[in-house]
Amino acid sequence: MKSYLLMCLLMLSSLTLASPIEDRQHIRDFYQQRFPQLQLDDYAEGVYAIDPDAKSSWQAIEEFPPYEFALEQGEKLFYLPFANGKTYANCFANQGIAIAQNYPYWDKATQQIITLVSAINSCREQNKMAALPYAKGEINTILAYMAYTSRGQRINTQIPEHSEQALAAYEHGKAYFYQRRGQLNFSCASCHVDNAGKYIRSEILSPALGHTTHWPTYRLNTGEMGTLHRRFMVCNKLIRAKIDPAQSTALRELEYFLSFMANGLPLNGPATRK
Ligand code: HEC
Repeated sequence: MKSYLLMCLLMLSSLTLASPIEDRQHIRDFYQQRFPQLQLDDYAEGVYAIDPDAKSSWQAIEEFPPYEFALEQGEKLFYLPFANGKTYANCFANQGIAIAQNYPYWDKATQQIITLVSAINSCREQNKMAALPYAKGEINTILAYMAYTSRGQRINTQIPEHSEQALAAYEHGKAYFYQRRGQLNFSCASCHVDNAGKYIRSEILSPALGHTTHWPTYRLNTGEMGTLHRRFMVCNKLIRAKIDPAQSTALRELEYFLSFMANGLPLNGPATRK
């Protein structure tokens, strides 16, 4: 009887994870067909992987990267003691070095997705510091430093087995990605899957695979560093949709889905983008 129950449980768990793993295979097969010249790791370069002209100017920019100042400031702030003498390093595994690949993750204790950005603010709050704004500003410098120490690590997003809630969070993120919205009635997938590689005005649309590898990002056209969720907000604005705020549950779930799709890709943040 016991072993029968165990077998049922095992079957159930493989069933529950079947969907995300199949989703991932499905989306990767799709891109493989569209961009047969690309290896999986190439997707970490975003649009530059499919735009050779833009890629060479991007590589030239990366020699003297405009995010350098943020990186230096981030390193200082990362080790600058809070009022109680502790630092960010005290809040994280491995003193916060080379750990970005383990975010976002499903936190069983609080039943929510923890992103690296949300963990930075939780760290501040635990140490009686005011939370930082989530989309722009100082949080990007801390994030830039943490991302930099994580370069080359491979994304390791897990959906814990037997966790219906984690799976539900993944499914919500996936639904968000495919849901049409806004006055233009586009989904994320309309642009970043169906039309990936095509022009929209003067920009080539990047594939969604690899969307989570390189944050924060310095945008050459605004001259500012921004988080991944800020970019989600910009895209929702583009299609005149309701703008879910950075680190809202909806956007964390979206990040969880995209990050699961990108499992195994190398991290290369911070980055520059047009
Ligand atoms: C109308 C088309 C359109 C829609 C719909 C859209 N985006 Fe974008 N998105 C763009 C454009 C244009 C860019 C800048 C060029 C690029 O990297 O694709 C961009 C950039 C991005 C980037 C940054 C890519 C990088 O390498 O830095 C991410 C991440 C992203 N979009 C995610 C999303 C998500 C998630 C959604 C759904 C909420 C979405 N986008 C909806 C047009 C769109």
